[in-house]
Amino acid sequence: MEVFIYQKYAEMSQAAAKVVADIINLKPDAVLGLATGSTPLGLYKELVRMHKEETLDFSHVTTFNLDEYVGLPPGHTQSYHYFMHENLFKHINIEPQNIHIPSGTTSNYKAFCQWYEQRIEQCGGIDVQILGIGSDGHIAFNEPGSSLGSRTRIKTLSKETIDDNTRFFKKKENVPIYAITMGVGTVLEARKLLLLASGANKAKAIADAIEGPVSCMCTASVLQLHPDSSLFLDNEAAGKLKMRDYYEWIQAKKPGAPASS
Ligand code: PGA
Repeated sequence: MEVFIYQKYAEMSQAAAKVVADIINLKPDAVLGLATGSTPLGLYKELVRMHKEETLDFSHVTTFNLDEYVGLPPGHTQSYHYFMHENLFKHINIEPQNIHIPSGTTSNYKAFCQWYEQRIEQCGGIDVQILGIGSDGHIAFNEPGSSLGSRTRIKTLSKETIDDNTRFFKKKENVPIYAITMGVGTVLEARKLLLLASGANKAKAIADAIEGPVSCMCTASVLQLHPDSSLFLDNEAAGKLKMRDYYEWIQAKKPGAPASS
C-alpha cells in the first residue's frame, strides 16, 4: 500500500491521472475501473486534457463503472451514466460498446449482476480500478457491514451516504435508497487499486482505511490486503493520519514516486 499526499486537489488529480495515462500508454487496450462522485472530477479533467493535447488514445480502452443508483434511467441528470458521459466519455475517443456501467433500470437485477461479473472476466479483468471513499469508509457502495468477499449486487445505502448525496438532489426524499454496486471481492480482483480522497470530511475514513484494522465497518480498509494499492490524498484528507510524516518521507525518498509539491 502506497500513500501519496499533495498540498492541493489539482496536484493530486494530475498525479493520479498520470498513473492512469501511463497504464493506457503501456497497454492501449487497458481495462479501466471507473468511479463517480466529486473526487475523481479533476482526474477525468486531466485525462481529457491529455487526450486533447497529448493524444492519449482511448480507442481500444474498455471501462467498467463501479455502481449506479437503482431506479435512475441513463438520461437522469443524477445518474452515473449521465455523470460519466458528461465528465469523461463525450470528451474522449472511447468506443461506446467498450463502456460498461451497471444498469439502474434492468428488469432482472440478479441476472444483470451475474452478467456484469462475467463481462469483467471476459474482458480480461480490470487493470486499474479508480476508487473514491465515502465519509463512512465505503468503496463503491459497499457500506459498513458489507461482506469483504461480496460481488456485484444491490446494496441499501447507509443513512450517512444518503445525507452526503442529498447535495446532488433537490430533496432528501429524491435520493435513491438502493444502488447496484461492484462488491468488495470484485474490486479486490483488479490488478491495481487507486483510491483518491479530498477534504477534511474524508480524514477519519482515510485514517481508518490506512491505519485501522481490516474491517467490514470500513470497506476501504481492504486496500491493506491488495498487493498493488495506492492512495492519493490531498492535505485535508490526510489530516488524521498518525504516520503522515513517514508516508511523506517515503514519498520524497522513493525513486519514481508520483511527485508531490
Ligand atoms: P465523493 O464520493 O467523491 O462525491 O466524495 C465518494 C464516494 O462516496 O465514494
